Amino acid sequence: MKKLFIKTYGCQMNAYDSARMADLLAAIGYAPADAAEDADMVILNTCHIREKAAEKVYSELGRIRRLKEAKAETGARMIVAVAGCVAQAEGREMIARQPAVDIVVGPQSYHRLPEMIARIARGTGHALETDFPAEDKFDALPEERSPRGACAFLTVQEGCDKFCTFCVVPYTRGAEFSRPVAQIEAEARRLVDGGVREITLLGQNVNAYRGAGADGESWGLARLIRHLAKIDGLARLRYTTSHPRDMSGDLIAAHGEIDKLMPYLHLPIQSGSDKVLAAMNRQHKAEDYLKLIERIRAARPGIALSSDFIVGFPGESDGDFEDTMAVVRQVGYAQAFSFKYSPRPGTPASTARQVPDDVKAARLQALQSLLAEQQRAFNESCAGRIVDVLFEKPGRKPGQAVGRSPYLQPVHADGAANLIGQIRRVRIDAALPNSLKATLCRTRVAESAAAR
Ligand code: 5AD
Ligand code: SF4
Repeated sequence: MKKLFIKTYGCQMNAYDSARMADLLAAIGYAPADAAEDADMVILNTCHIREKAAEKVYSELGRIRRLKEAKAETGARMIVAVAGCVAQAEGREMIARQPAVDIVVGPQSYHRLPEMIARIARGTGHALETDFPAEDKFDALPEERSPRGACAFLTVQEGCDKFCTFCVVPYTRGAEFSRPVAQIEAEARRLVDGGVREITLLGQNVNAYRGAGADGESWGLARLIRHLAKIDGLARLRYTTSHPRDMSGDLIAAHGEIDKLMPYLHLPIQSGSDKVLAAMNRQHKAEDYLKLIERIRAARPGIALSSDFIVGFPGESDGDFEDTMAVVRQVGYAQAFSFKYSPRPGTPASTARQVPDDVKAARLQALQSLLAEQQRAFNESCAGRIVDVLFEKPGRKPGQAVGRSPYLQPVHADGAANLIGQIRRVRIDAALPNSLKATLCRTRVAESAAAR
C-alpha cells in the first residue's frame, strides 16, 4: 500500500474535503500516513481567506520539496499536490513558484485526483484542474471509507453568491450550489452507521441551502434539519456558517423545537457599523442583526452565540469600530473569531485606501480582549451546571477524555476514557481559560435528550 499525508488549512469545509480526498485515494490504494516524511503522496489542502494562510502554504512547500528531494535520492517518488482555495486562486502561478508541486487541484475538481495522479505517474509534467466542472463532484466521490470518530462534518451547500467585498469565497468556491436531500441523507446514515453521533452540516452559506427533495420541492435548511433529526442513532446536529440575511423564521423556530439541534449558533456580523456593513456589501444593518438575535434567543433561551468580526476594513473610523464594540457588548458572545482586514487580490475592497496596520492591531486587541472576557464569563456561568457531553478523544491525562458540551465548549472529565463515542451527563466543576472541567454523573442520559 502507498502512503498518503494530507495537511489541512482553514475552515471546516476543507477538513471535510480532506476526509473525502482520503476516501477517494483509499480506493486506489493509498493508506493514511502520520507525517509527510513517510508519504508517497502529500496533499496540502489550502485556505486563501487571509494572506498569512497562503504564505504558510509556500513555506510548508519549501519543507516538502526537501523531503521530496531526499526521497528521490533513494530512488523513490513523492507526488506533491496542492488543493483547496490557494490552488484555485493561484493555479499555474503555484507550479511556477514551487516546481516541486506536481498537481494543482481546486475545491470543485478534486474528484479528478485519481486520473491526475495517473497522468503524473506516466510522465514528468504537471497536472492542473481548476475549473468548476459541470458534473457533480459529490456523485463522483466514493462512499466514506476513512473513520470519522464521534463527530463528522457533512457538506450540504457550497459556494457563495453574496460577494461581500472583502471575501475570496465567491471566486474560489464558485456559485451557490446545494446537494439534493437524498444524497445528504444517505451520507448522514452511512456516517451514523459508522459510529458518528454528531453531524455538523457545512456550507459557506449553509442557511441559504435550497436542495431538491424527493417530493420535487426545493427544501430549505430547517426542513433538512427536521428530516435528518429523525435518523436513529444521530444524537446531535449543528450547522455552519450562516448569513444573517438567510436566517428564516422556520430555521429560528427549529432551534426551539428540535432537541437534537444543539443550542449554539455561529452568525457572523463582521462589523457593527452600518457604514462599514454597506461598504462590505453585507446587505443588512446592525439593527437587523440585533433583532434577529432577539428572535433567536426568544426561540431558544440560553443559546450560545458566536460571530466573525473584521477590524480595519477600508474606511473604518474609530467611531465605526466603537459601533462594533457596542454590538459585542449588547449581544454577549459565548465565543467569536476576529481578524484584521486582509486585502485579497481580485476582491473589490483590496484596492481601496487601507487602514494603517498599527490601527488595525490596536482595534483587534481591544476587540479580542472584550470577546475573551465574554467567553470567560460564559464558561464561568456554566460552572455547577449539569450538561451532556459527547466524548470524542482521550484527554492529556491517563483515564481522561475530552468531548463537547451542547454549547461546543471542550469539556474534560476523569474516568471517561472508555466513554469515547458516547454522550454522558456531567457536572461542570470549573471553567479553565479554554475548556471546562467536569465530573461524570451517575445517571446515563437518554440518548436523544441531548441539550436541556
Ligand atoms: N480579511 C479578514 N478577514 C476575512 N474574512 C474573510 N475574508 C477576510 C479578509 N479579506 C473573515 C470573515 C469571515 C471569516 C471566515 O473570515 O470574518 O466570516
Ligand atoms: Fe464570503 Fe460574504 Fe459569501 Fe461569507 S457571505 S462566503 S463572507 S462573500
